[in-house]
Amino acid sequence: MSVELLTIQNFRNLANTQVNFHKKLNFIIGKNGSGKSSILEAIFFLGHGKSFRTNKTDTIVTYDHEQFIVSIKDDLAKQLGISRNIKLAQFDIKLNGDRVQKLSALAKNIAVQIVTPESFKLFFGGPKERRRFIDLGLFHVEHNFPQQWKLFSKVLKQRNACLKSKVGQKEINYWTDKFCHLSQIIAQYRKSYIDLLSKELNDWLILLLPNLAPIMELNYYQGWSAKRNLVDVLSDVSEKELAYGYSMAGAQKFDIKFLLNKQPLELMISRGQQKLFLLALTLAQTNLITKVKQVKPILLIDDIGAELDQYSRLALAKAIKQLDCQVIITAIDEIAIEPLVPEDKNYKMFHVKHGEISIESK
Ligand SMILES: Nc1ncnc2c1ncn2[C@@H]1O[C@H](COP(=O)(O)OP(=O)(O)OP(=O)(O)O)[C@@H](O)[C@H]1O
Ligand SMILES: [Mg+2]
Repeated sequence: MSVELLTIQNFRNLANTQVNFHKKLNFIIGKNGSGKSSILEAIFFLGHGKSFRTNKTDTIVTYDHEQFIVSIKDDLAKQLGISRNIKLAQFDIKLNGDRVQKLSALAKNIAVQIVTPESFKLFFGGPKERRRFIDLGLFHVEHNFPQQWKLFSKVLKQRNACLKSKVGQKEINYWTDKFCHLSQIIAQYRKSYIDLLSKELNDWLILLLPNLAPIMELNYYQGWSAKRNLVDVLSDVSEKELAYGYSMAGAQKFDIKFLLNKQPLELMISRGQQKLFLLALTLAQTNLITKVKQVKPILLIDDIGAELDQYSRLALAKAIKQLDCQVIITAIDEIAIEPLVPEDKNYKMFHVKHGEISIESK
């Protein structure tokens, strides 16, 4: 899918906005504080039920207002909408006009990925963001993953509750069995997905960081030693688990590491290269989601100019051209996007000033 019409009300400095996007490529230009990231944040919110900038959803509602509304109509006339009322502390979620209860109903219909100037710091900063990234891809690529993940999360919660309340060993064992079984299943899904992603990543690295492509290594950690049974690992740490009150190994602990000469990649490459690497990884994941055809992804790139030189932007332009999905890019001025704007005029250019969006005539 692609966003055809985006409607935003009282979302940060966007009072009442409608944007008719291009099916493939869009640029949004505006000065600092004009509202560029807020437009992307609104689209992201629809896909994830949360912001990429804050956990405090209520701070997003325009000052002195009670609720924000974001809705989109896609190229197949499907409609998705979400509103947040801070007085009532509730979400109102709509799918084709019908009210739905769960935020996940939206996530099934729209696969939004974003790269911001902060993304790479988050990504290399700790396993949480890496887990979130991989599981987002799996969610859209592997049909059975969401259901298994939900099951696993429930069992993990139960097991942790047992460890915390120190109930009898019999009950802990009961949940440990289920926990180990589901951890195996989740780990297998992730392993297969990461194999796919790794191959795909190589193709995009060749475009964006050709020197890195042949020497980069990807290490997958499933959440416990690959050489051992999870039951045995858990048995070794059983006293510690009871003391801390949570599961110390299992699929919830998984991670991926990128290595260069056996060293963590992020220590071996520059900030600009880190950004290019994350772009390559995001393009790879976007392309995998596209191939599955369950839902077409939407790629958001915030503040493209930051840290990328002319050569890198040209490489990125080539890469984006190969992608079969909608892309929305923001930048502070036209110089930053110059090499990305195609000559065939097959795109739309928007300008945003104090939360007001206008389209540039070509
Ligand atoms: N809840 C809110 N109500 C009203 N305005 C807000 C709210 N939250 C943030 N703002 C304002 O919205 C404006 C737009 O912010 P946004 O981050 O979208 O700008 P931007 O164009 O991405 O800027 P930059 O180039 O610096 O990244 C800012 O001036 C900010 O102060
Ligand atoms: Mg911004």
